[in-house]
Amino acid sequence: MKRPAPINSTELSGSAEKLIRGRHATRAFRPDPVPEETMRAIFSLAGAAPSNSNAQPWQVEVVSGAPRERLANALQAAHAEKRTSVDLPYSEDMYARVHRMRRAAFGAELYGALGIGPDDDAARAAYDAESLRFYGAPHAAFLFVTGDGGTRLAADVGGYLQTLLLAMTAYGVDSCPQGLLSFYADTVRGELGITAGKLLVGISFGYADETAPVNRVTTGRAALDATTAFHH
Ligand SMILES: Cc1cc2nc3c(=O)[nH]c(=O)nc-3n(C[C@H](O)[C@H](O)[C@H](O)COP(=O)(O)O)c2cc1C
Repeated sequence: MKRPAPINSTELSGSAEKLIRGRHATRAFRPDPVPEETMRAIFSLAGAAPSNSNAQPWQVEVVSGAPRERLANALQAAHAEKRTSVDLPYSEDMYARVHRMRRAAFGAELYGALGIGPDDDAARAAYDAESLRFYGAPHAAFLFVTGDGGTRLAADVGGYLQTLLLAMTAYGVDSCPQGLLSFYADTVRGELGITAGKLLVGISFGYADETAPVNRVTTGRAALDATTAFHH
């Protein structure tokens, strides 16, 4: 069988640069919904993500409209009553020193854009609580790790996450992955009437409110050599 003609890598790499570097976390949305056909195109494209032996160990739950409103209320109630439930363990101790420095730099950028001072813990907590309403986005997707929900399967779902975020960007849809939503796994499962799977992350999505200063926050990245070694 003849091999397909090589892809024009110049054209594709240019598009990839635009797509990958054009995705940013959005933290203020307009209420306009994403059309149903666009959503179906995005989520089917995301399903093309690779996974170990093609097991595709993800279960994706998308909420809009009344279920989204009910879930936002339930999340805020759980938060107020300190009813957290975490499927995949989280600890600040998991971060190395260099991670902590990057996190601090990011926090200063974000809260600076919001006009919240570095020591204003109350204002930061209030902002986090408000973010449980999906930053005003009309939709949220929840990614569950199925099977035993172990580390390697969770890594596959991480691959799905990035594929999904890029598919959204490609279709002009803005997004914010929110690890915070995974701290209320029982609430999410209860509201959606599901029993299986470990909740990895929620993603708020819709169309950015371009007037919001928080959406102008920019994030840098470590230099290539700080994270990547080429062995010849
Ligand atoms: C797994 C994961 C969890 C995240 N959790 C949150 C979150 O809870 N709240 C939030 O505002 N942003 C969250 N983010 C967004 C990151 O802060 C953001 O991706 C990072 O600062 C880089 O910025 P960029 O996405 O604009 O390039 C999360 C991102 C990922 C990948």
